[in-house]
Amino acid sequence: MCEYPIRKVPLDAPSQLEQLGTKAKFWFPAADGTPTLFKEGYPGSGEHWAEKIACEVARGLNLPHAEYELATCKGRPGVVSPMMVPDGGRLIHGNELLARVVPEYDERKRFRASQHTLGRVLAVLRSRLVATPSDWTCPAAIGDAAGVFVGYLLLDALIANQDRHHENWGLIKLPKSGVCLAPNFDHGSSLGRNESDAVRRERLSTKDTGRSVATYVRRAQSSLYKTHGSRKPMTTFDAFADAAAANPAAARFWIERLDNLDAAALMAIVSRVPSSVASEPAKAFALAIMIENRNRLLAWRESDG
Ligand SMILES: Nc1ncnc2c1ncn2[C@@H]1O[C@H](COP(=O)(O)OP(=O)(O)OP(=O)(O)O)[C@@H](O)[C@H]1O
Ligand SMILES: [Mg+2]
Repeated sequence: MCEYPIRKVPLDAPSQLEQLGTKAKFWFPAADGTPTLFKEGYPGSGEHWAEKIACEVARGLNLPHAEYELATCKGRPGVVSPMMVPDGGRLIHGNELLARVVPEYDERKRFRASQHTLGRVLAVLRSRLVATPSDWTCPAAIGDAAGVFVGYLLLDALIANQDRHHENWGLIKLPKSGVCLAPNFDHGSSLGRNESDAVRRERLSTKDTGRSVATYVRRAQSSLYKTHGSRKPMTTFDAFADAAAANPAAARFWIERLDNLDAAALMAIVSRVPSSVASEPAKAFALAIMIENRNRLLAWRESDG
């Protein structure tokens, strides 16, 4: 199968800085005029290839998601992502939404924001005023935006995404009227992209269970909390399992989708990352994380689901 292309951001592209988020990024018009975000990965961080793999896995699950392509700008690696908010619409992030309904919610808190509880997020998404993502046909079993979000949390659990904080989900205020859940975006802090190749090789081959991939994935933390005041965030797996318990039909639907996306399909997604972009141990480790988590999620269905 052919490698993912690496788009070159034109050096003379007129650009506008994006203030939100922590990484260097700017908007520029693509050849067809679509506003497109270039998001740079810190050198050696692996965020760009993790973002690309996560995007392709989201596609495989049929989750609504922002599109990402590998890219470079002035020799610096990153991803490009076309604007997912329609003209005249606006993305309202989770922190802004929660600040409207939770007294004294600290919108600006970036770390240990335990006010960002799973229950509050689901309550916002369960509102009848919030539609499922536009331009995406919602299967009946999913029901509502909260049911779609269960799928986002399944993806987080699958790829060990540690970054589901309150600016990494939101609603889109549509140009004419109404609001809908935004497609899933920003999944680059996943797939063990920040480990060294030496650690990856060791974890892939060790007989020490404490160092194994199985143990590694069980530590993945979401940025969602069980209760306000919790000292630690929920694990990515528990965030999915709790949301699934509250939305069982949607959870069954997403798990079915995962069942159909087998190890060979995940391997095909990973193998298309060019070797100039991610090392072989990085790709092998990313795949091992997904296979381990897929097995855990399918086993969860057999026991609790
Ligand atoms: N495809 C897109 N369409 C519209 N807005 C986008 C898109 N991609 C990103 N954004 C906006 O840019 C912001 C920053 O992007 P993103 O979250 O990917 O960056 P980040 O620096 O990785 O963030 P973080 O600090 O959460 O790691 C998002 O919160 C969102 O408001
Ligand atoms: Mg972000």
